[in-house]
Amino acid sequence: MERPVHPFDLWSQETLRDFLPLYARMRREAPIARVLSPNQRAPLWVVSRYKDAVELLRDGRFTKDRYKLSEADRHRYFRVGEIGQLDKHMLNADPPAHTRLRALVAKAFTARQVEDLRPRITAIAQRLLEELPPEGSVDLLDAFAFPLPITVIAELLGVPVEDQDRFRAWTLTLLSPPAGGNLEPLRRTAMQFQQYLQDFLARRRADPRDDLTSALLAAEEQGDRLSPVELMSMVFLLIVAGHETTVNLIGNGVWALLHHPEQLERLRASPTLIDSAVEEILRYCGPVRHSTSRFALQDTEFRGQLIPAGEMIMAALLSANHDAEQFDAPERFDIAREPNRHIALGSGGHFCLGAPLARLEAVIALPLLLERLPRLRFAVEPSTLRWRSGLLIHGLERLPVAF
Ligand code: HEM
Repeated sequence: MERPVHPFDLWSQETLRDFLPLYARMRREAPIARVLSPNQRAPLWVVSRYKDAVELLRDGRFTKDRYKLSEADRHRYFRVGEIGQLDKHMLNADPPAHTRLRALVAKAFTARQVEDLRPRITAIAQRLLEELPPEGSVDLLDAFAFPLPITVIAELLGVPVEDQDRFRAWTLTLLSPPAGGNLEPLRRTAMQFQQYLQDFLARRRADPRDDLTSALLAAEEQGDRLSPVELMSMVFLLIVAGHETTVNLIGNGVWALLHHPEQLERLRASPTLIDSAVEEILRYCGPVRHSTSRFALQDTEFRGQLIPAGEMIMAALLSANHDAEQFDAPERFDIAREPNRHIALGSGGHFCLGAPLARLEAVIALPLLLERLPRLRFAVEPSTLRWRSGLLIHGLERLPVAF
């Protein structure tokens, strides 16, 4: 018997703009809710309470590997071939493959390793800020929040920084729900991205450099540690995850600070609050709405709810991070909040690999930005700002600011 779906509208612009009331209702009335995915094609479980979300993220009974599903179930969520050969990466893998893939790059992303990038990240941020006009207005995403992280991850991987606009356009297409259900643009974009990476990897194979891609190619050539398809998927994942989220950490951070002028002033007056301010931005308006997908391989009872075999389940990270059972006055944006055990970067085995890098970029970028732009303000009426649709990313379409 087909199970009912809850009528929560998670995908409308109203909800995207002001998601807290709906998530509060879900936590109260249906903390494990079966809703329809944005393209209305398939049922999807959304887990909205903090404790349940943490448990889900750590629950090994749910698989991340969509290729373990029956073909019919997989077709409900993904069209086979839709994203070519780009999906064989750690985020879609269970142990032992997950452990093997993650170990290949884990060392490059430890807090100590990324600390070495501090001077370079500072120099990139300073250059971008120097390129701004002395006064006027810009889209802060275009002028600063995007070029900073994409330059950092491109340099790490050795992919050409000058191709950043292509990476941005491709990523936006791949992470947005297909307009009118038309999968053609998605398929075309995946093919272009794949062809680009194949050409890039062939060039690097012929001419290795001192970069992460060359190190991965060396691992691939040893035979049993990384297949060619896994290598391409890894570089793809690092390009996409390495910029898209951090763009919105910086963008949402500026949005939250401009909405809370007293907190902005507090940060300007006490710059040492920057670390806890970044944690509060992650909690209050983190860039990831829901965790990535997990699936029940068989009928699975989760916190008293039966999740039928083959169905997708996600943790609502933004909702969990506003759960009053876990946070005092969660609706308050408090840059000195303590304790602040948010799950904006996930939890468990798939906890964000790039967390130290994302944090370092934000901790460097925001103070430099505030120092360079003492009169920073919204350039449009903030209620007219539009949020991007889709399951995954919580971020603005544009962020026009004046200074
Ligand atoms: C995984 C968030 C920045 C690389 C994750 C997950 C979250 C997340 C929530 C877990 C997904 C899940 O379990 O379903 C964020 C946020 C970021 C950020 C909010 C910025 C503020 C980065 C950066 C990188 C990165 C800069 C660059 C290396 C990854 C990778 C995974 C991951 C490779 C998969 C880890 C695994 O499967 O073991 N991220 N991320 N992320 N993130 Fe990030």
